[in-house]
Amino acid sequence: MNGVFITFEGTEGSGKSTQIALLEERLRGRGRGVRLLREPGGTPIGEEIRHTLKHSPHNRAMTGEAELLLMNASRAQLVRELIRPALAAGEVVLCDRFYDSTVAYQGYGRGLDLTEVNRIIDFAVGETRPNLTLLLHVPPSISETRRKIRQRQTEPARDRFEEAERAFFDRVEQGYRAILAAEPQRIKWIDATREIPVISGEIWQWVEPWVPAVMGG
Ligand code: TMP
Repeated sequence: MNGVFITFEGTEGSGKSTQIALLEERLRGRGRGVRLLREPGGTPIGEEIRHTLKHSPHNRAMTGEAELLLMNASRAQLVRELIRPALAAGEVVLCDRFYDSTVAYQGYGRGLDLTEVNRIIDFAVGETRPNLTLLLHVPPSISETRRKIRQRQTEPARDRFEEAERAFFDRVEQGYRAILAAEPQRIKWIDATREIPVISGEIWQWVEPWVPAVMGG
């Protein structure tokens, strides 16, 4: 049985975690081995990098270039340590964010050169590319409200990304639209303002053709 690599994308507060958990349950219920991962992070090395990127008290001075390289250091480790072996074992890999986040956040959000960004992504992932990417979309105003609620709940643990200003998230949103336009076969735009079961139903419609073996399982 072939492994399948599915990634979830979207801005803050788009409900990715809820939907990933629902999809995982559905796949397991049909007898598929599922590997749940997140970026940045997912491996012990990656989780240390995640802390540096998001929560470290020393990260306020981090440059866009350093951020780009750290994201891809975490990714290079995750691809080789976990994603490739899981796919080789026939598992369904569900990853909360992958390289489209880098294009959207570091490319469009931070304004780094897109050719350089893509070159570094290529080095980090090689041939390991998602089969399907689900892009959960909520408008920037909803995303901002949810982000602020989360910031209040998690205080005093700060998150450097959640501190960014509205203009940054508007550029990230633009980035996601550009990515979608470039690869409509792989990337599916999901309106995530709807009820949770409606969203999970649409996600299943996109995923099901990739996991035909589960139907007999
Ligand atoms: P999250 O796990 O709560 O989504 O936080 C991850 C943060 O990191 C989120 O703000 C998006 C950001 N990010 C990037 O800027 N570039 C990347 O390549 C990835 C994977 C995440």
